[in-house]
Amino acid sequence: MPQIAKEPKTKRAAAIRKCQSERRKRLKTLTIEVDKETHGKIKMLANIRQTTLQGLLFDTLKSLLDSQSNLLPRPWSVLEPLREESKCERTHVSLFSGCGGIDLGFRQAGFKTVFANDLDPDACSTYRSNLGEIVEGDIHTVSLPRMRKKLDILSAGFPCQPFSNAGSRKGIKDKRGTLYQTALEVVEELKPRAVVFENVRGLLSFKTEKKLLIEEICEHLDFLGYDVLFSLVDASKHHVPQKRLRVFMVGIERAKKNGRFSFPAPVERNDLTLKHTILDICQNTQNQQELIQLNPQAIHIGSMVPEGGSWKSIPYEKLPERLKKIADNMEKYRWPNFYRRFHRNEVAGTITAAFKPENAGVWHPLEQRVFSVREIARIQSFPDWFRFEGRNIKSKYQQIGNAVPPRLAYELAAQIDKTLNGEDLRGESGLLTFEQFVKTGKPLRACDRDVVFSKSGASNNEG
Ligand SMILES: C[S@@+](CC[C@H](N)C(=O)[O-])C[C@H]1O[C@@H](n2cnc3c(N)ncnc32)[C@H](O)[C@@H]1O
Repeated sequence: MPQIAKEPKTKRAAAIRKCQSERRKRLKTLTIEVDKETHGKIKMLANIRQTTLQGLLFDTLKSLLDSQSNLLPRPWSVLEPLREESKCERTHVSLFSGCGGIDLGFRQAGFKTVFANDLDPDACSTYRSNLGEIVEGDIHTVSLPRMRKKLDILSAGFPCQPFSNAGSRKGIKDKRGTLYQTALEVVEELKPRAVVFENVRGLLSFKTEKKLLIEEICEHLDFLGYDVLFSLVDASKHHVPQKRLRVFMVGIERAKKNGRFSFPAPVERNDLTLKHTILDICQNTQNQQELIQLNPQAIHIGSMVPEGGSWKSIPYEKLPERLKKIADNMEKYRWPNFYRRFHRNEVAGTITAAFKPENAGVWHPLEQRVFSVREIARIQSFPDWFRFEGRNIKSKYQQIGNAVPPRLAYELAAQIDKTLNGEDLRGESGLLTFEQFVKTGKPLRACDRDVVFSKSGASNNEG
């Protein structure tokens, strides 16, 4: 029988020493002193668990740290301080920039905004006081920038009211509904390496005369030479302390040097509740003293709602006649959830531009008032240094409600940056083809995989 040659002792000892030294390099030593009794208890527990003392302490500490993810930096901390423009290597053109939610996140991820535009003077004031120059005016009348070098990215969060479920869904009959075409025309003209469009969920089901509008937009981008993916993204799965579902479309120019994009993987955090988000704001933080004053009846109804409740928690006989009428015929009114007051241990609901104290969850969990401008800015992940300007408080609520949460924009931009560096982010994860998405006939959910659109067949993005 052949003999297995034994390793010489010195060689084995050297191998063990190497192994130990590599382990030491990976680990750091933490020395703690414990009293005799505790030491005995730890030793006993280690015996029961059939592990070593170090093993037991390591596992216990690690699981404690994992469960305390509030030790993670706060959602907006990556947005402070603002990155210097000279330290941004990529270029960004921003359409429908609003107060700059997308632009702030993109800037922190290394994209310098070389052109921004919005119609609203108040949003432009906010933009200027925090981020820099913005061209104020209708997109149809402003001149586009001349790019000396290839543009890296173009973003457009075209107005969403025409597709919003909360609105009348006039869609493309509404003048604002055709602004997506204007955005596509600008893409055609500037030919950026990547495109990001953002809109409300209603865009996914909106039909033009012939097809789904999302298909029409994807087809157009595909025709212009982009591999397109879209996804319904829940901001609360991307470090934002708010449940907010929005559709994002990302187009990556079909070019050899570009990698394959995929949306960032969802992240679970247990420190995104209202308690973690707004309860520590100091009174002298900018925009904290600004909130709409409600009429006495609204305050009276709101103050009857307990933390975590809504108008449904108010005894019927205490409701005003108007609400009694609705309560008597809930089906007709589609089960409204008026006067929602989120619990401090819940994640906030969507902050919308309308900011209606009656039919949105904008009541402070503990006080008899609605959220302040700063509080909704925090819920949208804006850092405290970002100051909101405007003629009145309503306008500030509107700018914030309209914005893409900057932390989410940062996560997306970081992912696009990697793609433009040639990284393949697709990995092994499967994708939903556009045909599969249509075939299911079901609404897309935030937990679904990214939908990839590829009509021209030239895609390098097929999973
Ligand atoms: C949904 S908001 C965009 C928010 C922005 N993406 C952000 O992250 O803060 C849409 C913006 O489009 C602007 N807008 C609407 N019609 C416009 C037009 N014709 N030209 C330029 N901007 C327009 C609105 O003033 C509004 O600020």
